[in-house]
Amino acid sequence: MNNNGIILYRSKYGAAKKYADWLKEATGFECMETKKADIQKVKEFDVIIFGGGIYASGIGGISFLKKNVQILKNKKIILFCVGASPFEEGAFQEICRHNLTEGLEKFPCFYCRGMWDEEAMSLKDRTLCKMLQKMIKKQDPSTYEPWQKALVNAAGQKCDWTDPKYLEPLLAYMRRENLIAVDI
Ligand SMILES: Cc1cc2nc3c(=O)[nH]c(=O)nc-3n(C[C@H](O)[C@H](O)[C@H](O)COP(=O)(O)O)c2cc1C
Repeated sequence: MNNNGIILYRSKYGAAKKYADWLKEATGFECMETKKADIQKVKEFDVIIFGGGIYASGIGGISFLKKNVQILKNKKIILFCVGASPFEEGAFQEICRHNLTEGLEKFPCFYCRGMWDEEAMSLKDRTLCKMLQKMIKKQDPSTYEPWQKALVNAAGQKCDWTDPKYLEPLLAYMRRENLIAVDI
């Protein structure tokens, strides 16, 4: 176990947790859900990786970092977010602009593709997604944003796009910053 860092995550449907577990394997850091995280314990670590699912453009669990940003100001913080949408630079920048606020702007953020399973969703989430899909379908398909296209295409299907390859840019960043050992 590497005691230098910790992986915090918020995952409603399992994808962000899967990425947190893969990161645990790659870094040796332990994982902790933001809901159970205690800032007194978290502040003992030098490196904090945070990951959360994207729900209606918001990154789940990020309020934990925002609430504690002053306490964590000298830490190496790395974020990742997990969405159903395929990666698209403009849409990702918009997610970052919308979520990395209140002191989080300076930290790097990465994107991983998650899962989609309407059967597994809570009634509230399923209803919200169906409403979104209905609204999107009223638009001209040529104007769809990548996340809108993904939401419409995924309707009624069970999809799992999780893949450790999405963590490569984050791990490369950590190697460059000497936060983990470089593989030989
Ligand atoms: C209510 C709801 C809203 C969502 N909104 C978005 C979204 O705005 N953009 C996106 O890319 N994915 C969106 N998704 C898909 C989730 O990000 C995806 O299911 C991801 O795997 C969630 O992470 P988790 O599995 O760790 O909970 C949404 C899912 C739900 C249930």
